[in-house]
Amino acid sequence: MIINNLSVSYTDAGGKQLPVIIFIHGFPFNKSMWNLQVESLKNDFRLITYDIRGHGSSDAGNEVCSIELFVIDLISLMDALKIKNAILCGLSMGGYIALNAIEKYKERFDALILCDTQCIADTFEAKEKRAKAIEEIRKSGLEKYADESIKNLFASESFTTRLNEIANVREMIVNTSEQSICSTLLALSVRKETCHMLSEIAVPVLIMVGNEDKITPPAAARFMQERLGGSVLKITDHAGHLSNLENPAEFNVQLKMFVKSVY
Ligand code: MLT
Repeated sequence: MIINNLSVSYTDAGGKQLPVIIFIHGFPFNKSMWNLQVESLKNDFRLITYDIRGHGSSDAGNEVCSIELFVIDLISLMDALKIKNAILCGLSMGGYIALNAIEKYKERFDALILCDTQCIADTFEAKEKRAKAIEEIRKSGLEKYADESIKNLFASESFTTRLNEIANVREMIVNTSEQSICSTLLALSVRKETCHMLSEIAVPVLIMVGNEDKITPPAAARFMQERLGGSVLKITDHAGHLSNLENPAEFNVQLKMFVKSVY
């Protein structure tokens, strides 16, 4: 589908008349990371997954990447699909996009699921790390970047129990273009914080995080929950930063219980 002069790859599963859940993937992955969630919810919801520009099979476009631009893409996709309202479920960068989207377009969202994400902006050290990563990628390519990333993405036990998932995630990273990874790293490093607006979110929110998430740890989830009155926090065992892939059984139970309580 063409939106904002950009070819965007998406999937649309479940019944067209059912309540909609839109899934937003993390960086630098793609929509296939939600396959198991789509499978588990397709009898009760309409489920949209899509590739953020520059990821998966979506075009990168020529504009400078930013979380704000990713939000415009999301709203344009909803408009093109004639989706007025939806539940948003975002993991990590997907969560950053979801929080920015609800800040700007609160009437379009009925509930929020924030997975392995945070509301703070990058610290000076985090920005430096991203700048170094860009330098390294330009010098040594994506294979090394993927190997380094994998070490932080998964819980320690996943390295023996989730070899297929790790291989798939590695594929997702190396199949993303160097240019898109670098421009998204820059977009992430200049993103603004969203903590100050959490108390204004009036829809139900579920926060989920892997108990071994090293990138956006449980403390970051608790920090958000304290500012989100009435939100629910679930810490997923046997999982790191990619809790929906590392422990889909527990993740899906929590997800299903929450989305069924929304309507
Ligand atoms: C992600 O999984 O989307 C990234 O870890 C987000 C980030 O680097 O801040």
